[in-house]
Amino acid sequence: MADLSINFAGIKSPNPFWLASAPPTNSGYQVQRAFEAGWGGAVWKTLGDPIINVSSRFAAVSFNGQRVAGFNNIELITDRPLEVNLKEIAETKKRFPDRALIASLMVEPKQEKWHEIVKKVEAVGVDGLELNFGCPHGMAERGMGSASGQVPELVEKQTYWAKEAAKTPVIVKLTPNITDITVTAEAAVRGGADAVSMINTINSLAGVDLDSWNTIPHVAGKGAHGGYCGPAVKPIALNMVGECARNPRINVPISGMGGVSDWQNAVEFMLMGATGVQVCTAAMHHGFRIVEDMIEGLSHYLDSKGIQSVMDLVGKSVPKYSDWGNLDLNYKIVARINQDTCINCNKCHIACEDTSHQCIDMLNDPNGKPYLRVREEDCVGCNLCSIVCPVEDAITMVELPHEQPPMTWNDRQSALGLLKQMEVDTVK
Ligand SMILES: Cc1cc2nc3c(=O)[nH]c(=O)nc-3n(C[C@H](O)[C@H](O)[C@H](O)COP(=O)(O)O)c2cc1C
Repeated sequence: MADLSINFAGIKSPNPFWLASAPPTNSGYQVQRAFEAGWGGAVWKTLGDPIINVSSRFAAVSFNGQRVAGFNNIELITDRPLEVNLKEIAETKKRFPDRALIASLMVEPKQEKWHEIVKKVEAVGVDGLELNFGCPHGMAERGMGSASGQVPELVEKQTYWAKEAAKTPVIVKLTPNITDITVTAEAAVRGGADAVSMINTINSLAGVDLDSWNTIPHVAGKGAHGGYCGPAVKPIALNMVGECARNPRINVPISGMGGVSDWQNAVEFMLMGATGVQVCTAAMHHGFRIVEDMIEGLSHYLDSKGIQSVMDLVGKSVPKYSDWGNLDLNYKIVARINQDTCINCNKCHIACEDTSHQCIDMLNDPNGKPYLRVREEDCVGCNLCSIVCPVEDAITMVELPHEQPPMTWNDRQSALGLLKQMEVDTVK
């Protein structure tokens, strides 16, 4: 059996599945039940100065029968007294010494505030700290959360202050509500972060009620932007993890989250550079026991690939992730339709005709039976027909032999540059 344990910036965990700082990690009762179910670690719901939460906080975006394709919330950090949380953290760590227990922290951007809270939570035996620079609502208006996390200087400074007092590893949790997450990730590293985690939630409004014209959710008829998470945000999170993983200046482990719902998602995040994953929405939707399938699925996957340790997955796809300018312009794929499985629904024809390159012909065989065929010479290999096709494998995208040697746009530009230079030299 493959070894599922991870070492995340010095924090050991029996498996890479952690619960993210959120409602599932609000209390000792919950985190202990999660550990009983098998979660390898948990980041406690963010601790900080007392706040008051609003009633009516969550909304989901259902899409095509999927109940929680996206999840939106206007909840703030913990609303329980710090002392109560600290007592329960100590009890939980004592009962589950082998699990990773991380305290998420958010305080005002003041040195003494960071020192004070870091010392208090480390005294109860946490394995690490996660600085929450990500919450996009409520706390941001008070200069914390994403308001801090959007300013690289504040990320760097606060990380530095936390590190001044910390004895355990400091993970900096980043907001996706920024143009380029590598800028704040680099700032965290400059501040001394031992690791970064991403993503927190994305600014969002789940919807508007067509009868009352209230926002969804609303609080007594008024709404405010919330934070979006769940399966819908996974592509955004995966890109941010990949961008950080391939940046040589962000040379610290990454904890990946945002839409992780099953073991396959976890593998994707790890291949893209995450050393482990955190989960919130999927646990809120389906309960703690989803971790059983995650552990089993991951074990089978590693065994089937002959991989001995889950740590061997980390970053394996990163060298394959680059800028557009490094892609081979002479690589070509075309669509091929399997006449045995095609049901002639014509969805591919319509998609290609209306919105792509008009290269799927509707023909009739000698017996008058209709069929669809791709004119390969006109196909640009966009994948749209295979995306809209409702039948698994009825359309496959086939690689054609290279007609010309591989050449990227960057190669082309440097070749052009050389030519220009030669012209200048010749004129001289
Ligand atoms: C209701 C709710 C409350 C959350 N509260 C916190 C929080 O207190 N601290 C924090 O760092 N992140 C908080 N998050 C963000 C999650 O930790 C996580 O970053 C985000 O939900 C993405 O993961 P997911 O797609 O698995 O849900 C919260 C998320 C939700 C849905």
